[in-house]
Amino acid sequence: MQIDIVTIIPAVFDRVFDESVLGTAVKSGLITVNVHNLREYGEGKHRTLDDTPFGGGPGMLFKPAPLISCLTDLRNSGAPAPVIGLTPRGHVFNQAMAKELAAFDRLILVCGRYEGFDERIEDEFDLELSIGDYVLTGGEIPAMAIVDSVARMIPGTVGSSDSVICDSFYDGLLDHPQYTRPADYEGYQVPDVLLEGNHSLIEQYRTFNSILATAVLRPDMLAETELSAGDKRLFASQLKTLNN
Ligand code: ADE
Repeated sequence: MQIDIVTIIPAVFDRVFDESVLGTAVKSGLITVNVHNLREYGEGKHRTLDDTPFGGGPGMLFKPAPLISCLTDLRNSGAPAPVIGLTPRGHVFNQAMAKELAAFDRLILVCGRYEGFDERIEDEFDLELSIGDYVLTGGEIPAMAIVDSVARMIPGTVGSSDSVICDSFYDGLLDHPQYTRPADYEGYQVPDVLLEGNHSLIEQYRTFNSILATAVLRPDMLAETELSAGDKRLFASQLKTLNN
C-alpha cells in the first residue's frame, strides 16, 4: 500500500515510519509512505497557505488553491486513491474503518491546521476522519494514528495475524486479561485455568472475560456486537457459576 500524507510540517513524520513494526513494514515494501510539504504549493514570495475567514472570526483557514493544486498533482501521479481529510468534524475513526482502508492500494491523507479548510477544499475530500471528539492542533497526530492502525491490518505487517484477530475491537469486544511470568507476583496470582494447559477451558476463560470486560468498560460497544448463540450460552453459564 502507498500512503501519501500532505502536511505543512513534514518534519514531524521524520522517525515515525522508520522504527519498530511500521519501520519493518516500510523496509519490507508492504507500505510506502510519502510525506508531501504543502508549503511548496504556497502562494507568492512567502509561500502563503492561509488567510482570514470572510465574515470575520478567529484564526486562519487553508486557502483553496495551494491544497487543491497539490491534490491534483497527487491524483495525476500514481494509482487512484481516496482523499481523506483529517478534521475534528470527520467520522470518528474505528477498527472497522482501519480494516476497510487497509483494502485500498493507496490512500491520500490531508492534515488540517489552523481553524480548518476553506469549504471549497472540503469538496475535494472523499472522506473526512476524526480520531475522537477533541480538538488537536492539527491532523499530523491523527494521520500517524490512522497510518499505524491501517498498516497493522495489512497481512504481513504484524508478526502473527493471530495477534491482529485477538486485538481489542477486532470482533467488537475488548481484549481479555493476559498474564506472563511469574505466575505469582507478590501474592497476585495468575488464574489457575491459564496455567493448566486445557486449551478448551482457556478459550472459554478468554471468551467470558472478553465479554465481561466489554460489558463493564464499554457497554456501548457490547450493545452493537452480535454475540454467537454459543458465546451467549457460555457467558450466561459462567456468570451463574461466578454468582454461586
Ligand atoms: N485535527 C484536529 N483535531 C482533530 C481530530 N480530533 N481528529 C482529526 N483531525 C484533527
